[in-house]
Amino acid sequence: MELRRGHGRPRPIGADKMKLRNSTDSDFLVIGGGIAGMIFAIKAAAIGSVTVLTKAASDEANTAYAQGGIASVWSVDDSFESHVEDTLKAGAGLCDRTAVESIVRDGPEAVRELITLGTQFTRVEEGGEDEYDLGREGGHSHRRVLHAQDLTGREIMRALGAAAEARPNIRVLENHVAVNLLIERGTDGRPRACWGVYALDKATMSVRKIVARTTLLATGGAGKVYLYTTNPDIASGDGVAMAYRAGVPIANMEFYQFHPTCLYHPMAKSFLISEALRGEGAILRLPDGTPFMKRYHPDAELAPRDVVARAIDSEMKRLGLDCVFLDISHLDAAYIRERFPNIYKRCLVYGFDLTAGPIPVVPAAHYMCGGVVTDLMARTAIPRLYAAGEVAMTGLHGANRLASNSLLEAAVMGRRAFAAAREQLSHDEGIAPAFPEWDPGNAIQSEQRVLITHSWEEIRRLMWNYVGIVRSDRRLERALRRILMLKEEIHSYYWDHLIDSDLIELRNLVTVAELVVRCAMMRKESRGLNYNIDHPEHDDTRAPHDTIVSRDDAMPAEASARPA
Ligand code: FAD
Ligand code: SIN
Repeated sequence: MELRRGHGRPRPIGADKMKLRNSTDSDFLVIGGGIAGMIFAIKAAAIGSVTVLTKAASDEANTAYAQGGIASVWSVDDSFESHVEDTLKAGAGLCDRTAVESIVRDGPEAVRELITLGTQFTRVEEGGEDEYDLGREGGHSHRRVLHAQDLTGREIMRALGAAAEARPNIRVLENHVAVNLLIERGTDGRPRACWGVYALDKATMSVRKIVARTTLLATGGAGKVYLYTTNPDIASGDGVAMAYRAGVPIANMEFYQFHPTCLYHPMAKSFLISEALRGEGAILRLPDGTPFMKRYHPDAELAPRDVVARAIDSEMKRLGLDCVFLDISHLDAAYIRERFPNIYKRCLVYGFDLTAGPIPVVPAAHYMCGGVVTDLMARTAIPRLYAAGEVAMTGLHGANRLASNSLLEAAVMGRRAFAAAREQLSHDEGIAPAFPEWDPGNAIQSEQRVLITHSWEEIRRLMWNYVGIVRSDRRLERALRRILMLKEEIHSYYWDHLIDSDLIELRNLVTVAELVVRCAMMRKESRGLNYNIDHPEHDDTRAPHDTIVSRDDAMPAEASARPA
C-alpha cells in the first residue's frame, strides 16, 4: 500500500459515476508531443477534441534530436523481406517476426503521410531524376534511410507542429508534467480503464485532473537514467513508470541501447555523431590511427550498434583510453559539409574539424528498446490506454534496435493507436468515474533540494558503472540493493513534500532503474544489448523470451486516484 501521510486519502473510485459527456475534458488525451504523439493527435483531430501534454516546450522531444533519419523501404532495389531480415538480425533472435513484418510493411505509407503533412526530406538528382536521398546505416543491407540532411527530427517536428497548429481541435498544454494515470478499478482492485491523468502545470505549480475518453502514452525514452546520454532532459521514463504503477506489464528493459559515437568533450553533453557518418564511410580508429572494427565484426563500422559500442568499450578498457576516434576526413570536404551541416558546425564549436581529421568519440545511452507492452494496435493491458513510440514495446526491436527503425515504429504505431482508439470510441462511449481532485494533504514545500539532486546523480552514476554496456551478476545485485534503498528514501520524500517536476522525474527514474536491473537479472544470458560476463552466451536451453515485469496485481485503488 503506497498511501502515506502528506497527500490526502482518495475516495474509492468506481462508485460515484457521472455521465461521461459531462466529465471529460477531451475525447483524446496525448501525453507527449514527439513524432508518435503528434501523428496520433493530428489524425484524431479529424474526429474529436484532442489535448496534448508536453512536459517542457512543445518542440523539446527526443524526436527533435534525430539525425540519421527514418528507415523505410523506398527504392525499387530494396524489399520488405530485406528490411525484415536486417531488423531480425539486429534483434538477435528476440524480435517478434509478426511485429517486424507488419511495421516494416506500413513504413512507406507512414513516411508518405509525414511528407503529406509537410516534412521535407532531402532530395538528390539521380540519373536525371529528382529522388529522395536514401542514407545507409549500420545493420542495413540497403540504402533506405530518408533524412533531412542531419536534422531529420527537427524537420519532422517542424512539419508536425505546423500541421497541429492548423487544427483548432488540438489543444497543446506545454510545461504540463503528467504525474499519474487516472485508473478506474474493479472491486477486485484490478484496472478496468484509463480515463486520463493528473498533471502538474509548471507555471502555476498546481496539479490538474484531465479526464479523457482515451489516453495515449507517447512519452519517449529514459536516457536520463544513465550518466551519459544522447537524450534531452525530458527523457526520464515517466510513461514507463506511470504505466507500471497503474499495473501495465513492462518488458525487456535490460535492452538499453548505447549509441557508439557521441562527441567526447566536457561541454558537448554527449552530442550525437550520427551513424550515418559510418554509413558514408567513416572509420573508427585508435589514437595511433589504427582501425579496429574488423577485429570485432566482418561488417566493421557497419556492424549492429551493440557490437560497435561493445568494441569501443573493450578497446577503451584494454588500452585505458578516454575515447576512440572517428574519421571521415578522407571524403570530400564540400560533401561532408553539405551532407552533415549540423554535425560539422557543432564539432567546430568544440574545436574539431570533421573535414580535417579524426574526432574523439565515446558511447552513451541512447534508446530504450523495452517498455510498456502493447499489441500491434498500440493497445496496453488497460482498456482506453494506448502506448506508442519509444515508450512502448511492440516486439519490433527485440534485443537490439536497428538504426532508424525507431522513428519508423513511432510513426506507424502512432497511426495505429489512433485507429484503435477510434474503433474503441465508435462502439463504446463509456462512463467515467468521478475521480477526486488532487489533494496535497499535509505535504510541505521541499526544503532540501540537495536530497533530490544527489539522488539523481547517484542513480545515474550507478546505472552507468554497474548496469552499462558490460554487466555482471555481482554488479547487478549491488545496483539493485542501492536502488531499493534510494527508492525508499525517494518515496518517503515524495509523499511528504509538495511535488515539482524534479521530484516527479526522480521518482520515475528510480522506478525505471529498478526495472532495467530486474530485467537484466532475469536474463541469464548475453543477447543483443544485454552483455553479462557471467553468462556470456545465448541461453540455448530455452526459446528466446521476453523479460516481463508487472507490479503486483493486487494493487490498492488509490494508486491511480491519489497522487500515487
Ligand atoms: P519523444 O520524441 O521523445 O517525445 C516525448 C514527448 O513526451 C515529449 O513531448 C515530452 O515532453 C513528453 N513527455 C515525457 N514525459 C512526460 C510527462 N511526464 N508529462 C508530459 N509530457 C511528457 N531514431 C531514428 O529512428 N532515427 C534517428 O536518426 C534517430 N536519431 C536520434 C538522435 C538522438 C540524439 C536521439 C536522442 C534519438 C534518436 N533517435 C533516432 C531515436 C528517436 O528520435 C526517438 O526514439 C523517437 O523520436 C521517440 O519519439 P516519441 O514520439 O516516442 O518520443
Ligand atoms: C543516428 O543518427 O546515428 C541515430 C540513428 C538512430 O538512433 O536510429
